[in-house]
Amino acid sequence: MSDASNRVAASARAAAFGQRLFFDTRLSNGGTISCASCHVPEWHWTDRRPTATGLADTDRNTPSVANARFNRWFGWAGATDSLWSASLRPFADPREMGNSERHVAALVRSQPDLECSYRQVFGRSPAAVEDDKVLADIGKALAAFQATLVTGRTPFDDFRDALARGDRAAQARYPEAAKRGLRLFVGRAQCNLCHLGPQFSNGEFDQVGIPVRRPDGRYDWGRYDGIKAVQASRFSLLGRFSDDRKGTTGESTRRVALTVEAYGQFKVPGLRNVALTAPYMHDGSIITLADVVRHYSTITDEKLILAAPHPHAEPGEELPARPTGSLLRTLNLDAREIADLVAFLHTLTETRAGPIRRPPTAAPAGGTQLVRSGAKPCG
Ligand code: HEC
Ligand code: HEC
Repeated sequence: MSDASNRVAASARAAAFGQRLFFDTRLSNGGTISCASCHVPEWHWTDRRPTATGLADTDRNTPSVANARFNRWFGWAGATDSLWSASLRPFADPREMGNSERHVAALVRSQPDLECSYRQVFGRSPAAVEDDKVLADIGKALAAFQATLVTGRTPFDDFRDALARGDRAAQARYPEAAKRGLRLFVGRAQCNLCHLGPQFSNGEFDQVGIPVRRPDGRYDWGRYDGIKAVQASRFSLLGRFSDDRKGTTGESTRRVALTVEAYGQFKVPGLRNVALTAPYMHDGSIITLADVVRHYSTITDEKLILAAPHPHAEPGEELPARPTGSLLRTLNLDAREIADLVAFLHTLTETRAGPIRRPPTAAPAGGTQLVRSGAKPCG
């Protein structure tokens, strides 16, 4: 899959450079944090924490970067609109990699291994271009690497194909509990109203009753702030760093509009390998898949309203009408139905995990051995 906004999206050389960058702590302010500090490969590119911690604590759960290439919007609030701009976001966050945007361009120019790789991938010296261009290019190399992280086939895929072929023997290998869970998922529980398609996500945003009020009393308004951020970003698909001359990739960004409904909405996450990425939700507030299903089972209008009250509602004020016509209904699932849905969710885990590809050494000294692209190693 190519990405018109990223001229090196499909380049093996860029992916190899991006892979080294992903594990390189030099990119953070102070030299202690890399992308892989939070997106840990052994933990399916997440960190097993409710909310991420870089140089300081953040408010959001770390999503996996596997299958991220299939997103239209990135991050829980869709604050970025491309894989490469999502890859630049942590540099700017003082809690993640510490306002290191300016630092990144200087680093790429001053470190011989980075300078050499940059020249090989982008065909020009980083000294010859402005800071923001170097930064965007670093995001594009990181994106080329992450685009190679795609999850493998699952028992569910085998079952779906067996159904299509009418292969009863193969269908029988799919656990009965998962079959019942699947029937609920697309039937009475209506999970597929939002979790649909190959990645089990409609790619949009919704509110499922996870409170926007944080334990410390601040609010995470989700998509509302995400829209404002993407509209303000100099690295959006509408900006001058996109390589898409026709501008068609920026269509969704051009059309997006700030609405009241966006208050408290978060991205509908894909569900492939979801059993590997606990804890759940944008704030990591639900620990197990069974508890996620119980949450949906007991959802009510009141819970939805309380989770994301109208921004100007005060405690004790009358609750506004049902928020934004939620599709969610109280499901009242019994214990077996909950277990069945969980069994189904487990069949979305890849049967064979891909190799963990850590560069041999990610440290500053000689982190450049891993060149699979035929180019001369740098440094
Ligand atoms: C401090 C932990 C931390 C570090 C370091 C970090 N990330 Fe993340 N990453 C997160 C969190 C948390 C989110 C969700 C952010 C949001 O909702 O706005 C995220 C989101 C993303 C996404 C969007 C995924 C999706 O499906 O929407 C991508 C891509 C990503 N990070 C790549 C990177 C890259 C590349 C780096 C290194 C340059 C990096 N991250 C460094 C925690 C981290
Ligand atoms: C109205 C749309 C909608 C429906 C219907 C829906 N979901 Fe979700 N789902 C979401 C959104 C949005 C989130 C993220 C919410 C947040 O973080 O605040 C989510 C999160 C999840 C997560 C957590 C994934 C993660 O990586 O953190 C799981 C698991 C899940 N849903 C399963 C289900 C199941 C099972 C059903 C059916 C019982 C269901 N969903 C019905 C929209 C929906």
